[in-house]
Amino acid sequence: MTDETVAPASPAPTPNQKVWDAPVRLVHWLLVFLVALSWWTAEEGDMQLHYWSGLTIVGLLVFRVYWGFAGPETARFSRFVKGPGAVLSYASKLFKPDYRASFGHNPLGALSVVAILLALIAQVGLGLFASDTDGLESGPLSPYVSYEFAKDAGDLHEDAFNILLILIGLHIAAIVFYLVIKRINLIGPMITGSRKAESVEGPASGIAPVPLWRFLIGVALAALVVFLIVWVPTTR
Ligand code: HEM
Ligand code: HEM
Repeated sequence: MTDETVAPASPAPTPNQKVWDAPVRLVHWLLVFLVALSWWTAEEGDMQLHYWSGLTIVGLLVFRVYWGFAGPETARFSRFVKGPGAVLSYASKLFKPDYRASFGHNPLGALSVVAILLALIAQVGLGLFASDTDGLESGPLSPYVSYEFAKDAGDLHEDAFNILLILIGLHIAAIVFYLVIKRINLIGPMITGSRKAESVEGPASGIAPVPLWRFLIGVALAALVVFLIVWVPTTR
């Protein structure tokens, strides 16, 4: 005798949607570590380590800017940098019941991402030309500028760090807001790369893979820029 009873089908598990590729995640967590290390080494006066930590950040920023044009969908500036209209429209929907998390950076969060990247570029840019009062601690490009310019760059480099700290504080506050108030965990996907497809907009399959050669060009470009910064001043 056959058992005709059919058990109710259990709901299919929600597929995971890939949101962040490995390079975006790796750059992010390396930035977190190296910005902390740059601050700590500056505080402790370990300028040798500060120099190399800062130069690694230069390389990461070169890669991230390149990846903003050559990387997958959610890494691209053209996709997440939106005008004021889109930002206001997103903000007005934030507390509506049918609110769904964005696929990648939301238009408001993108403002914070761009501000942090610009502040980091200014921070390292000033550091490269900086020199302290006695000229003992100098960035690798300081030989190209006057003593006064290098000293001003050093002062601004120190002040700019406070702006960076404010932006990072806002960034972390926003992530805590989503976690506690909106009950949306943005940190998990920044670690694993994926989240439940049902909870977000965008294609269920998530981001499309990017050919390896594009990634390798980015790595080569970042290494070349850091190499030129370190090597060219020594050949003057
Ligand atoms: C995000 C990355 C960076 C952060 C957060 C950072 C932070 C700081 C801070 C807070 C100081 C002040 C230390 C003090 O006098 O109390 C400092 C000094 C300095 N930094 Fe950086 N820095 C970064 C990247 C760089 C880079 C890339 C270079 C160059 C390779 C550099 C070169 C210097 C130099 C030469 C000084 C001494 C300037 C002076 O005392 O006027 N920094 N940095
Ligand atoms: C030095 C501190 C930090 C810096 C400079 C920083 C910088 C950034 C940047 C540039 C992005 C954009 C990623 C990209 O598109 O490449 C980002 C995104 C993100 N960061 Fe940070 N971050 C910092 C600390 C943190 C911390 C401590 C957390 C966790 C609590 C965090 C969680 C995230 C998350 C979840 C995203 C993705 C947001 C989204 O879903 O749109 N960040 N961060």
